[in-house]
Amino acid sequence: MTTPALRVLLCASEIFPLAKTGGLADASAALAAALDGLGVKVHLLMPAYGPAIDQVVDLAPPVALPDIMGHSGGLLLSGKTPDTGIPITLIDYPQLYRDGGGLYLDADGHERPNNPQRFAVMAHAACRFALGEFENDRFDLVHCNDWHTGLLPLLLKTRAVDEYPASVFTIHNMAFQGLCPMDLLPELDLGLAPDQLGRVEYYGQASFLKAGLEFADELTAVSPRYADEIQTEEFGFGLEGVMQARSDHLTGILNGIDRSVWSPSVSPWIHAHFDQDHMQGKAACKLALQRELGLVENPNAPLMIFIGRLTWQKMADVLLEALPHYLALEPDRQFALLGTGEIALEEAFYRMASEHVGRVWVSHAYSEECAHRMHAGGDFLIHGSRFEPCGLTQLYAMQFGTIPIVRPVGGLADTVVDATPGTLAAGTATGIHFAGTGAEDMLAGINRTIALYRCPDAWRSLQRAAMQTDFSWDTSARAYLSVYLRALSARRLSD
Ligand code: ADP
Ligand code: GLC
Repeated sequence: MTTPALRVLLCASEIFPLAKTGGLADASAALAAALDGLGVKVHLLMPAYGPAIDQVVDLAPPVALPDIMGHSGGLLLSGKTPDTGIPITLIDYPQLYRDGGGLYLDADGHERPNNPQRFAVMAHAACRFALGEFENDRFDLVHCNDWHTGLLPLLLKTRAVDEYPASVFTIHNMAFQGLCPMDLLPELDLGLAPDQLGRVEYYGQASFLKAGLEFADELTAVSPRYADEIQTEEFGFGLEGVMQARSDHLTGILNGIDRSVWSPSVSPWIHAHFDQDHMQGKAACKLALQRELGLVENPNAPLMIFIGRLTWQKMADVLLEALPHYLALEPDRQFALLGTGEIALEEAFYRMASEHVGRVWVSHAYSEECAHRMHAGGDFLIHGSRFEPCGLTQLYAMQFGTIPIVRPVGGLADTVVDATPGTLAAGTATGIHFAGTGAEDMLAGINRTIALYRCPDAWRSLQRAAMQTDFSWDTSARAYLSVYLRALSARRLSD
């Protein structure tokens, strides 16, 4: 199914390689490339963070933006992404997106107090761009991602004079909601009628996420399991009622991965290339990694890795509690961690590394290169999550023959097949599940993994099945296309 004429504006706060703090960046970039491959005319839009401006290629002369919510001096910067050549527009208000610090935190690591204004301005500019107000062609559909773009579906409806572009809102994470005081709403200039206020109100505050969930024509979540989970109290973060009410318009679509980046046969950053039939390279990568990280160079030592945000979501606190027990059980066990997050957790993991020199390595840097080398050289990945909308890290690990140990929630449940006698015999097992959120639950999963690691045949079978699993974007991009078509017809019905 191809619809060459469909013009889609895909808006996200992060798009790899221009800006990234997590999986949203990878998912939005790779989905855009996959849609382009299906013949969709996809155009990306994001804030003009400094590194994004530096990387965009074929920049056209800037177009002046009108004052938005009292912010002046805005520019539209349009060009192409450096790797995939997809058209992209950056919304440039230097005072909002280029004043030092990170995407959401200021230079001191605090949440930026003006985040609501920053992303409201982006939504206004994106809305006007989608409507074709800057001598550009208007779009048929706007695909919004996470709370940063939550105001866009409602703006499209309140601002359009005739037929508005349809909107799809993808939930990458319900935990981040973009809350602000209700009395900020006049400043955000949303054009809401009084009887519409309840659709953005969340327990006395205004929620950008809820606005997106309420006003978008169609909703998606990044895995089928997560689409079900967010309709329950445990995973809905107070919005489960909204999700239940909109369940007819909610589709779970698994993220894919970009195999031109995340593959042990092509990664430019690893010591040796390998694939499922030629695994000598993985052994070489393990020794190189042990050397690089200052771990004891031992091909038979179990090497567990963690890559990700050090947060409650990722059960980093539980990992910290489990780690001393993991290390105490056998003297050759090793652990390497690459992750930034809560300061207290970062410090505690650092202390652990200094107490176990040669066995534990910890870095709080952010490094794509190092992440690749860890996936290539590690034996297994610990990925406990209290909730996990999709999770990309376990998918990357599997491609590199690194066995994921996961708590089966959300996308982790949908993508990792637990090693049971049955799945091992059938050759379909790709990882280990553990239930529960206690350190003892996690340790049970790790110990079960190490028992398999010590059985070379079982381990090879796990690695082979994990590496063979197809997580390409193609199927998912087609599923998005179906949702787009549904959104277009839903819009006509509600006109
Ligand atoms: P989330 O988006 O919830 O953080 P995902 O698993 O979907 O989880 O995506 C995380 C992405 O961020 C992966 O690409 C992972 O490699 C990357 N990542 C997280 N922390 C780091 C880090 N410190 N260095 C390099 N990459 C990291
Ligand atoms: C979010 C989720 C993660 C998902 C990513 C990309 O950050 O936490 O599970 O993989 O978005 O969709």
